[in-house]
Amino acid sequence: MKLILLGAPGSGKGTISEVLRDKLHLFHISPGELLREEVRKETTIGKEIAKYIEKGELVPNKFVVEMVRLEINSKKNFVLDGFPRSVEQAEEIKDIKVDAVISLEVPEEVVIERFSGRRTCPKCNAGYHIKYLPPKKEGICDKCGTKLIQRKDDNPATVKERFRVYYEETAPLVEYYAKKKLLHKVDASPAPERVEKSVLELVKKLKKTRKVKKRSPV
Ligand code: AP5
Repeated sequence: MKLILLGAPGSGKGTISEVLRDKLHLFHISPGELLREEVRKETTIGKEIAKYIEKGELVPNKFVVEMVRLEINSKKNFVLDGFPRSVEQAEEIKDIKVDAVISLEVPEEVVIERFSGRRTCPKCNAGYHIKYLPPKKEGICDKCGTKLIQRKDDNPATVKERFRVYYEETAPLVEYYAKKKLLHKVDASPAPERVEKSVLELVKKLKKTRKVKKRSPV
């Protein structure tokens, strides 16, 4: 399966991608994580892109598109988490055939409180929430035992800008992929386990449809 996950900041793209990786063995590609890794390593590119991430703006395509292409390269199964983020980026990868685009739908007022409680592992990138998805031991990653951190861009001013950019640049992709008959909407407001169940059921259905299509004569 080749999937794209669309959704506003905090809609749960990272959380659902981890589920798809762990349960369905899809390769998780997160440009957000790849970019933050460059920032952490303080590479020349990292220093340049940090300015955009800290302001909540999109990092210019010259840094992102090739990076994503290299990751996708020859992978048969993947979930793209947070790419494309504009119609321009979608056009850049239109030669890559995907099976479906899943849009995680959740109102801004529901996700806004997710940011203050989000905790992330700087080593293995696992995501948590102090109330909705707490780690077993407070402040420590379940998977690798590293101390969890809060993301720099989760402060209220940057979150506001990330939403502005989302409405302006990313939201038009819902219509873009609907026209291509690839779009599937999932309500991402309920608790994580319920969203997980909805997405897994949807992917199961998509797999079945794909098998039937492959079997039917052309
Ligand atoms: P990125 O890291 O992709 O951030 P984002 O899109 O703003 O999304 P988030 O990671 O904030 O949220 P999410 O939807 O993954 O939610 P999560 O699962 O963590 O990008 C960051 C920056 O990188 C961008 O601003 C930009 O600068 C740059 N960038 C990235 N991609 C780019 C691109 N293509 N082009 C240019 N620039 C790019 O969940 C959020 C919290 O809620 C967590 O704490 C989680 O535990 C909790 N949670 C999840 N689901 C639920 C639920 N159902 N109920 C309650 N809590 C939940």
